[in-house]
Amino acid sequence: MIEGKKVLTGVKPTGKPHLGNYLGAIKPAVEMGNTAKQHIMFIADYHAINAEKNVEVLHRAIKEIACVYLAAGLDPKKTIFYRQSDVPEIFEVATILSAFTPKGFMNKAHAYKAAVDKNLAAQKPQDDGINMGLYTYPILMAADILTFDTDIVPVGKDQVQHVEIARDIAGAINAVYGKEILVQPGYVADDKIAVIPGIDGRKMSKSYGNVIPMFEDDKVLKKAVFSIKTDSKPIEEPKNPDEVLVYEIYKTIAPADKVQEMADGLRNGKLGYGHVKNMLLDAIIEKTAKEREVYNYYMAHFDEVQDILAEGAQKARGIAKQTLARLKNAVLGF
Ligand code: ADP
Ligand code: TRP
Repeated sequence: MIEGKKVLTGVKPTGKPHLGNYLGAIKPAVEMGNTAKQHIMFIADYHAINAEKNVEVLHRAIKEIACVYLAAGLDPKKTIFYRQSDVPEIFEVATILSAFTPKGFMNKAHAYKAAVDKNLAAQKPQDDGINMGLYTYPILMAADILTFDTDIVPVGKDQVQHVEIARDIAGAINAVYGKEILVQPGYVADDKIAVIPGIDGRKMSKSYGNVIPMFEDDKVLKKAVFSIKTDSKPIEEPKNPDEVLVYEIYKTIAPADKVQEMADGLRNGKLGYGHVKNMLLDAIIEKTAKEREVYNYYMAHFDEVQDILAEGAQKARGIAKQTLARLKNAVLGF
């Protein structure tokens, strides 16, 4: 689906990802670098300042997310990897896009609408606490995408509308000048990827506080695994694996023979909850050991990461300058 295509993904720096983010989004996104014709991943730091004003918190989150992507196997030779704020052409493109973006698009954007609904529900003025960065978020995101002649943006459901807005803005510009100045992007929403359940059985999510952190030390990881919800059946009582949350999580990361072993052990009363939790903990540690090691390495040698990002920004600017020149020429004539 992405072979021969120009693929771009932006990530907001929102702290260390959990196992669900990692297996559900980060790892598959990084792997696209192997097949895409042009693969870009960037850290959307100027988007993040809309919500985060504490510089230490933000700085750390940027650092962590950069190291996480490298730990996930991002290869800077295959993937152009940069911080958004290091590519100033994007912001000039955003200014031009603004002139072609109907204000109504912004009024309808989900993130803004959700913020308004929250205010109204709390009986506050509708735009209370909403800054223009949040309001015009889809324009900057369109610039992120259109600056790189992106064909495909891999997205979660919540981002589909933003890609459609980018597509419409590009279409509007092409229509005004009667030729293809900007590539109209499409998206892929991968619904084959399993949703990883959290320790309370709901979807693993930061907002539910039910996550298994994978870039924390073993103690924190162990605590999360041992907090996974179970009933109080004793070891010898046969258990239906499909009703055991530990097993549900195990299925998403362990090899098939191990999964079968756990299922059999639960069914025939050989395995209790303590056993299966230890098996899960071992599987997570085994599956993520390499990543955690690389992550810790880069956190301790961040200057190397800075060099990778700087090189990525140079490559990105090479492409961005060309798109900007094309766009400027179309709208200003020079
Ligand atoms: P959270 O719900 O923790 O706030 P986000 O909404 O920021 O996570 O999701 C970031 C990415 O991780 C998205 O692409 C999303 O699809 C993926 N993701 C989040 N939680 C899970 C999960 N439990 N299983 C699989 N993928 C997930
Ligand atoms: N809006 C995306 C999110 O909240 C992050 C993002 C910013 C992005 N610019 C992008 C994603 C461009 C894809 C393409 O997750």
